[in-house]
Amino acid sequence: MFGGVVPEIASRIHLTSIVPVVDRAITSAGLAPADLDAVAVTYAPGLVGALLVGVSYAKALAFGLGRPLIAVHHLEAHLFATALEHTDAVPPFTALLVSGGHTMLLDVAAWGAYRLLGATRDDAAGEAFDKVAKLLGLPYPGGRHVEVLATGGDPSRFKFTRPMLRANQHLGDPDYFDVSFSGIKTAVLQAVQARAPDVDEDQRHADIARGFQDAVVDTLVEKTMRGASAHGRRRIVLGGGVACNHALAAAMRARAATIGATVYAPSPRLATDNAAMVARAGLFHLERGDLAGLDLNAYASRPIPGLMS
Ligand code: KG4
Ligand code: ZN
Repeated sequence: MFGGVVPEIASRIHLTSIVPVVDRAITSAGLAPADLDAVAVTYAPGLVGALLVGVSYAKALAFGLGRPLIAVHHLEAHLFATALEHTDAVPPFTALLVSGGHTMLLDVAAWGAYRLLGATRDDAAGEAFDKVAKLLGLPYPGGRHVEVLATGGDPSRFKFTRPMLRANQHLGDPDYFDVSFSGIKTAVLQAVQARAPDVDEDQRHADIARGFQDAVVDTLVEKTMRGASAHGRRRIVLGGGVACNHALAAAMRARAATIGATVYAPSPRLATDNAAMVARAGLFHLERGDLAGLDLNAYASRPIPGLMS
């Protein structure tokens, strides 16, 4: 256990897993490789070593089958995930992408037309959950464990400051849509260390988890509502691993109802990283004739294609 992802080990595991994983996916769908219309692959953003394994394999597969190759941006794939199971989760909508590596608020006018409203200034939401989990002695990845622990926590015990959330913020302020999670992580550390000998440690940890989750949820909900209101959107789509969090989805639904908006959250297997969302985003690009060449490269960081300023 390393308490995170070790890039070189991850790349090597990609190398040994990719052939059996793709074979099993094709077989369990009752298909043969020749039935594939195209090969879609994630080329950015992420750990380059792991991405290169996928990109190289996809090129060989596409070339061998004589099929088009399609380059998919990981975060655009997350935007498409919810549409796989909710037919109404289609643009225009406000999207909150909350994963282990990214936290972004986007206005999606149409597929392929994205406006970045805000992002994290430091840690991603999932990363904050993972770090807090570690401080509380929970396993990695810790988001789910923090959520479970928080259910038994007292919400009035730890009132952490809501990051980047002030009453006097206005549209146009640089931090109006942005979030920041590193400060709250430090506040959690201080709370964990300020142990009193006469209290039940397990209960205190549950109270801290609850206080932390409430602060993160409040912030994400408020920023998302600001995004929906600013663009007059009536649909809100959640994506990324943190979208599995029930407290986040419930609070988002309650607030959205007050402005007559509907929240679409993917089920856990589509919220966390998966190949179905990459295929769905790939189909969009295939239909647009947006094909990649065999010189496709992998990138650690790259803006979402179709990003408008
Ligand atoms: O999207 P994802 O599967 O991978 C990335 O692209 O990063 O997201 C993983 C993140 C991890 O940080 C994990 O702790 C978090 O999603 N996560 C959760 C929950 N389930 C997963 N965070 C909060 N509550 C959850 N229930
Ligand atoms: Zn992801």
